[in-house]
Amino acid sequence: MDTTATSSGNLDVPADIAATLVDPTAYADHRIHDSYRWLRANNPLGIARPEGFDPFWVVTKHAHIQAISRQNELFHNADRPTTLTNRAVEERVRKITGGPNLVRSLVQMDAPDHPKYRALTQGWFMPANLGKFEGRVREIARATVQRMLDKGGACDFVEDVALGYPLHVIMEILGVPEKDEPRMLKLTQELFGPQDPDTARIREKLTAEQFSGMMQAVVADFGAYFRAITEDRRRNPREDLATVIANARIGGDYMPDHDATSYYMIVATAGHDTTSSSTAGAIWALAEDPAQFEQVKANPELIPGLVDEAIRWMTPVKHFMRSATADTELGGRKIAKGDWLMLCYASGNRDEDVFEEPYQFRCDRKPNRHVAFGYGAHLCLGQYLAKLEMRILFEELLPRLKSIALDGEVKMTQAYFVNGPKKLPILFEVN
Ligand code: HEM
Repeated sequence: MDTTATSSGNLDVPADIAATLVDPTAYADHRIHDSYRWLRANNPLGIARPEGFDPFWVVTKHAHIQAISRQNELFHNADRPTTLTNRAVEERVRKITGGPNLVRSLVQMDAPDHPKYRALTQGWFMPANLGKFEGRVREIARATVQRMLDKGGACDFVEDVALGYPLHVIMEILGVPEKDEPRMLKLTQELFGPQDPDTARIREKLTAEQFSGMMQAVVADFGAYFRAITEDRRRNPREDLATVIANARIGGDYMPDHDATSYYMIVATAGHDTTSSSTAGAIWALAEDPAQFEQVKANPELIPGLVDEAIRWMTPVKHFMRSATADTELGGRKIAKGDWLMLCYASGNRDEDVFEEPYQFRCDRKPNRHVAFGYGAHLCLGQYLAKLEMRILFEELLPRLKSIALDGEVKMTQAYFVNGPKKLPILFEVN
């Protein structure tokens, strides 16, 4: 980190704002958006030095997020932790794995490995292939909607709809039997929401050792589970994605075990919590705005716009980290080789220079150039699947509803990596 520039150029983010960036509760009670707003206006590319963490650049402008994400040679994913990690945990992880990350999935890879590993499943996630699953996704959506309507006028939309639906879809595509879905859900919540007292495996405040031990146990559980699936799919190939991963060859050999586990993990995990949060976000927004609810109901062609706007508005993936591979300059700042950068997608998606009325939910927003799926070589592999699932759910759900309204407080998960509603109580009337 270039401390000379810092002392001379006043690049430091004020300590109270830096503290919110690493405070999971600030993401649950929306204070983080006040910090982002302040940063965009006053210090759009500043250095945060929160206690216990290595300093990092805080990237809050849409244009800077894109500029960094598109230069994958200059800004690596894998040299330092890919998600925000405190110093003590990073040290522990380095002792355990010899590197900065516990897993080595696509997001923890750089070229030349990254494009090779991504190419293995890229075709699977393209619209042309996903079309094959549309009929089955619609069946799952219909059954989910029916279960909600059977609740008779009130439900927790997260618990009863948003959590289970994308999980069920991704597990079918992956080839995990339905009976194992609760286990997958629990492991994902432990992986993504380890700071939330409702989902963490150990509820007290954890030491670095306990924390990395807990995460290691979650990874080991995933590993054990998917090792059995790999063995099965090598003997009995099927039409599922697990068969593609299990039989994929890198340089003539099967993927090393750890890489295969990581691959399953990113597909299994990235594929549902994020989509759940965005789906819940759409219903939350519509429940607060009956006029917009009526508008989408009367104009189903607005549903794809509703989906994109919900993903922008919720931005469930709050950040990924990058690190500079060489000295460079961006937005008038000197970034030094080795510096760590936090890409704040949820801030980029409220950037006043890009979005008109960024704090308003507008399902007719056009264009909607949000960065909720990231940008560049690592752009979300599952974006078409996420949008297809959400579109189909709303096509099935909205015509069945006469009205929706909030029925209590919406509660968000406490996490600074992936977060979204964990409780969304609603009242609804059926047509
Ligand atoms: C990567 C967001 C749904 C699989 C990412 C990234 C973001 C993201 C921000 C990092 C991009 C970057 O670094 O530039 C989301 C959101 C989703 C969603 C907001 C839902 C609304 C899904 C689904 C899957 C998925 C359904 C399906 C399995 C992946 C994978 C990567 C990824 C495999 C790694 C790509 C790479 O590094 O090459 N996602 N995602 N995501 N996502 Fe998603």
